[in-house]
Amino acid sequence: MTERTVGLMVVAIMCVLILSRGMALAAPPLPPVPADYADKHMPDGWWTDPKVLAEGEKVYMGQVHPKVNCSNCHGKDGQPKKKGARDLRDPSLVNRFSDSFWFWRVKEGVPKTKMPAWKQYLNDEQMWAAIAFEHSFSHKGQAADHAHDEIQK
Ligand code: HEC
Repeated sequence: MTERTVGLMVVAIMCVLILSRGMALAAPPLPPVPADYADKHMPDGWWTDPKVLAEGEKVYMGQVHPKVNCSNCHGKDGQPKKKGARDLRDPSLVNRFSDSFWFWRVKEGVPKTKMPAWKQYLNDEQMWAAIAFEHSFSHKGQAADHAHDEIQK
């Protein structure tokens, strides 16, 4: 093997290492929203409506339905309490959820995780309210219009 060949091999190995690290760091794409959910959107003004947020907080904290307490796993402020739940205070995660994606996941659950479907316990309004409340976690606990966030298309 010539010195030149060895040099080229070293460069090639370094490229592979750098590229694979870049890929590991990039967040995996979110699964596509099923067609049935593509036209589901947060009702106008609900992201920041204090009444909606107060209702959402009740749903989230387990005061509306005895079988529903989101804070058991996601924590009272989005800091995960159960292993496997991700940090809902992290805008780089949450800002990627479109409202349709969010609603779909809450309604149908997340396969292969401990996140069940909530549709048998909550109506659509209660789910949207819980989502609006949950959204405040990634905005320092303040209500915020998600339309201003960068949402993954
Ligand atoms: C028994 C534990 C548990 C409860 C209770 C729970 N979740 Fe989850 N949730 C999880 C896990 C585990 C995941 C998957 C990992 C992740 O994304 O955090 C998840 C994911 C999510 C996601 C992200 C969806 C995705 O695809 O990444 C949202 C939004 C969410 N939950 C909202 C809620 C809401 C709203 C409630 C209450 C109505 C709730 N969760 C109750 C465990 C729970």
